Amino acid sequence: MRLLAQTLSVCLALSLSLAAPSLFDGPKPADHHVMEKHHDAKIDRCQGVEFDAIVPDEHGVTFFFKGDHMWTGFHGDAALLNHTYKELSHTNAAFRMHHPDSADHDHVFFFQGDKVFSYYQHKLEEGYPKNIPEVFPGIPNHLDAAVECPKGECVADSVLFFKDNKVYQFDTRNKEVMLRQWSHLPNCTAAMRWLEHYYCFHGHNFTRFHPVTGAIVGNYPKDTRNYFMRCAKFGHGSNDTERERCSHVHLDAITSDDLGKAYAFRGNFYLRLSDRQTDGWHAFPISSTWKEIEGDVDAAFSYDGKLYIIKGEQLFIYKSGADYALIEGNPKPLKDELGIEGPIDAAFVCGDHDVVHVIKGRKMYDINLNATPRTVQKDALLPFPRVDAGMCGPDGVKVFVGAHYFRYKSPMLLSHSRIRPHPQRISLELLGCDH
Ligand SMILES: *[C@@H]1O[C@H](CO)[C@@H](O)[C@H](O)[C@H]1NC(C)=O
Ligand SMILES: *[C@@H]1O[C@H](CO)[C@@H](O)[C@H](O)[C@H]1NC(C)=O
Ligand SMILES: *[C@@H]1O[C@H](CO)[C@@H](O)[C@H](O)[C@H]1NC(C)=O
Ligand SMILES: *[C@@H]1O[C@H](CO)[C@@H](O)[C@H](O)[C@H]1NC(C)=O
Repeated sequence: MRLLAQTLSVCLALSLSLAAPSLFDGPKPADHHVMEKHHDAKIDRCQGVEFDAIVPDEHGVTFFFKGDHMWTGFHGDAALLNHTYKELSHTNAAFRMHHPDSADHDHVFFFQGDKVFSYYQHKLEEGYPKNIPEVFPGIPNHLDAAVECPKGECVADSVLFFKDNKVYQFDTRNKEVMLRQWSHLPNCTAAMRWLEHYYCFHGHNFTRFHPVTGAIVGNYPKDTRNYFMRCAKFGHGSNDTERERCSHVHLDAITSDDLGKAYAFRGNFYLRLSDRQTDGWHAFPISSTWKEIEGDVDAAFSYDGKLYIIKGEQLFIYKSGADYALIEGNPKPLKDELGIEGPIDAAFVCGDHDVVHVIKGRKMYDINLNATPRTVQKDALLPFPRVDAGMCGPDGVKVFVGAHYFRYKSPMLLSHSRIRPHPQRISLELLGCDH
């Protein structure tokens, strides 16, 4: 029995059950335009959605698809699919082509019934849609899922196509197909490659598998909402620590205070590195420690025995100690206190310096905390279009971008070096998660 999406409005659920009783109850919607009349429906993916397809675009932004709706990134609301991909009414499967010496490299291929659509920069390529066998000979119509597998992870640059309980491994160079029977794997309705790992999505769960052997790698299934999306109200009763450590959703802010306690903020939760470092990270609701703040922090930094938390146009200053007490008169307008307008993306102070480095969009602004009034004294262009969070410690500056962080010896080098350091994975290398 497949997942029942409790998520659709009553009106949609009713009209769907009349129009297409099998929609959530068997294979995915095929080619009949079951969703046509339902453009008012808002699907909430935090209620549990069995996705039709999940695929990154050429910039690495991950898109999720269900019926005539789609989501951009790991949080946010549903939008109509045809606003972004105007030729599509729904999709059965999608993948991003990895084939470096071909014109198709980085194109996103969508499958709808017996047709395949190739997009680059969200524009349909000339000559598409085509019949599937024209482009992928040997691959059946009405697919369930697809995912690319570059050489090195698979034996050759290939695509894995899923239909029912069969997997077709398609070599993109010589177009040979190998049929695999991975019957221990659930039937995938979507498949995704993420940080060189392979995931099969089924119901609201997912299972990681090895792309060559199909072996299940680790303890699965796990709930998609814990790792691939940000759901504020979800997770009650589940293990918040495991979820927050291993989530692939970007961090909002990160800092360590003068007492050496490190905090990472995401949504309504924060992770704290235990005083005994071997215990690792533990998750708690933000409001349990900073009761004036519910969640969605923009930046946090520590300075002079105080913790500064920035949210929108407001600055909250807490006295650090065993507990955190909001200092009287707070919150204050960010502009009055730091001479810069919100929203900002990240902020950090290095050691016992008096300069806070504030990152906003592509720029880093230096503000001297000892001066009155405080104003921006220097700014510099950064080598990243957007940063989620930043921190500075004895081992230098770390900037956090999506699922990765990058380490620089100093703020100077962050703004001046032309070479981007090796990306490190936040969940694996920083938070000690194993997947
Ligand atoms: C986009 O999709 C919605 C809902 O499926 C439909 O009502 C609308 O007519 C479509 N728009 C275009 C331009 O195709
Ligand atoms: C997977 O697909 C096969 C073939 O259609 C079907 O017999 C089987 O019941 C499916 N398994 C699940 C768990 O839905
Ligand atoms: C999802 O996985 C959990 C185990 O993590 C399992 O108990 C549950 O039945 C699964 N649900 C579906 C719809 O597959
Ligand atoms: C929650 O997960 C953490 C990290 O995986 C683990 O150490 C802890 O024992 C788990 N707690 C419970 C109650 O399962």
